[in-house]
Amino acid sequence: MKDHSFLQRKYLVNSYVNRGLTLVAGDGVHLYDAAGTPYLDLMSNYGVNIFGYGHPALTARLEKQLRTLVTLHGSFTNDLRSETAQELVSRCGGGLAQAFFSSSGSEANEAALKFAVLATGRKRFIACRNGYHGKTLGALSATDGSKFRSAFEPLLWDFVFIPFNDLESLEAALQAETAAFLVEPIQGEGGIILPDPGYLAEAAELCRSRGALLVLDEVQTGLGRTGRFLASQSEHIAFDIVTVGKGLGGGIPAAATLVTQAIGDKIPRSAHTSTFGGNPLAAAGIRATLDLIDDPLLGYVRDVGAYFLERLRSIRSDLIVQVRGVGLMLGLVVSAMRDDILKGLQREKVLAIPAADDVVRFLPPFIIEKPHLDEATEKIEKVVSSLSRN
Ligand SMILES: Cc1ncc(COP(=O)(O)O)c(C=O)c1O
Repeated sequence: MKDHSFLQRKYLVNSYVNRGLTLVAGDGVHLYDAAGTPYLDLMSNYGVNIFGYGHPALTARLEKQLRTLVTLHGSFTNDLRSETAQELVSRCGGGLAQAFFSSSGSEANEAALKFAVLATGRKRFIACRNGYHGKTLGALSATDGSKFRSAFEPLLWDFVFIPFNDLESLEAALQAETAAFLVEPIQGEGGIILPDPGYLAEAAELCRSRGALLVLDEVQTGLGRTGRFLASQSEHIAFDIVTVGKGLGGGIPAAATLVTQAIGDKIPRSAHTSTFGGNPLAAAGIRATLDLIDDPLLGYVRDVGAYFLERLRSIRSDLIVQVRGVGLMLGLVVSAMRDDILKGLQREKVLAIPAADDVVRFLPPFIIEKPHLDEATEKIEKVVSSLSRN
């Protein structure tokens, strides 16, 4: 039998943390190793598999599209692509009028930065400390953290970093040359950090008063993750630019940059394109995903997320400092041994992911049920109690 972990180390650039686990299949809320052992997925591949694995509606739509048309360059019209854009724009609301499709969250943010320059004629940006917007060069310029940036500095354009959830700093940083403020509604990679209610709406007002745009990076928080279609729909905001990705394509790489008509009108032909952006296969994944995210589902995400939050908060351990989050975007903040907890959970056949230096992050698929979360809670309890005794 082939040693796949050896092949992985030898033939793939080792730029990822290696979890030491080979997974070959998925079904529902479980991933399976080659021996058929199920692992309970509480991370949906960093937020992608929002309907788990092999969802019948997604699979049927994608299978049909595979036989119909997989790729079509954006210079041609495609029925599915245009209808999908219309549906996505209408689900986002807030004055957004047009979508630019791409294939990853980083690309969606790159497009947002370019569109902000085209719309404002300015080239300075503000982003948040502890924020994450991707690792391609433009997106990396907006991402904080020396572990990501230091080898590549100086990065592109002119970014000023301010503390998250701090309107005074935003006001001070906004200048006549500021094109946009790029911010996550909830910092995900940074540790599941929620701002005060009203922060985003006030930030939008401040930006508007200075002629700058607000770019909301909903790549992790969007598509129902927090129990709303977009997390920032918890506030009344007239959007300028919103980016989405991860779960958007039903597992097919897909992302989108949504803009108002006024911004869309300022983007000239050929200024920004992508060969794969909005290909019909991805559009089919997006369409099927949008059909599945209805009001009852969003209500379910809020309820089941609140249940998990409560269960996590019931765990008594001196290792646990705080449990925070909303919907199915939750973080367990620990005082030590975060990676040992993740490894312990993996040994118990439960998959979670890290965030910041001290957070165990849970991004379960939306089809998770309370018994799965009970099972997960018991295993988390077992792992943290075994570690705190050592
Ligand atoms: C908020 C946010 N923006 C952007 C990205 C980058 O997305 P991708 O890895 O698809 O390029 C991520 C990925 O985790 C993210 O969480």
